[in-house]
Amino acid sequence: MAKTYAIILAGGTGTRIGNSLPKQFLRINDKPVLIHTLERFNLPDIDGIIIVMAKEYIKQTERTLKEYSVKKIKSLISGGDTRQSSSYNALNALNYDDGDLLLFHDAARPFIKSEIISECIKVAEECGAAGVYIKATDTIAIAENEYVREIPVRAKIFYAQTPQAFMYRIIKEAHESALSNGLKDITDDIGLVRNAGYDVKIILGDQENIKITTSFDLKIADYIARTQIK
Ligand code: CTP
Ligand code: MG
Repeated sequence: MAKTYAIILAGGTGTRIGNSLPKQFLRINDKPVLIHTLERFNLPDIDGIIIVMAKEYIKQTERTLKEYSVKKIKSLISGGDTRQSSSYNALNALNYDDGDLLLFHDAARPFIKSEIISECIKVAEECGAAGVYIKATDTIAIAENEYVREIPVRAKIFYAQTPQAFMYRIIKEAHESALSNGLKDITDDIGLVRNAGYDVKIILGDQENIKITTSFDLKIADYIARTQIK
């Protein structure tokens, strides 16, 4: 039977938030962001969780996981210099079968809802690849040298969130073909899978599934965590 694994990408160091501690360890409602995120994946649909963490924070992660008795952890591995290499490292964390499903999720998105995770799993099982997106609310400008070059039609624009879910054989092929073409810094796995020629189905996410990127986001996340009724 094919298995479903959640890969929590926590290999970044949070340069844009400007805190000495990576943002996954900062607290919202008095609990580390990473723990909020991991708890969201303690679901019957998930067979195991793999955490990808920057090497120098592995020990701290082990302590934090113990402190909160986090369930379903199968592996804690070190990340790479780019999100692409962190996600590639996760492909070698376990002995996956070709038909296993891997859900890549940003550790910095602690408010993912279980219904969206389930939908992501269902659609990726049917189509091989699926990602969570929300419709753009702002108009987007494509710029070059400080001049506006193009205003794409807003109805066609989506903001990418996570999870992004793939059949193991597809994501493995996509990563290997990117590496053999010299691509090393693709910020999103769907970009790799599209480059490899696969279709990816859109799942509509929700606005609450924010990625904590700046200190402003951290304030909003703390507010959401404190006011959310579970
Ligand atoms: N990530 C990762 N490995 C990297 C870079 C990023 O696993 N080498 C993870 C981050 O930990 C985060 C997610 O990918 O959960 C999204 O990345 P981002 O928001 O860019 O986080 P950081 O890279 O930590 O932040 P910044 O870009 O501001 O430095
Ligand atoms: Mg980054």
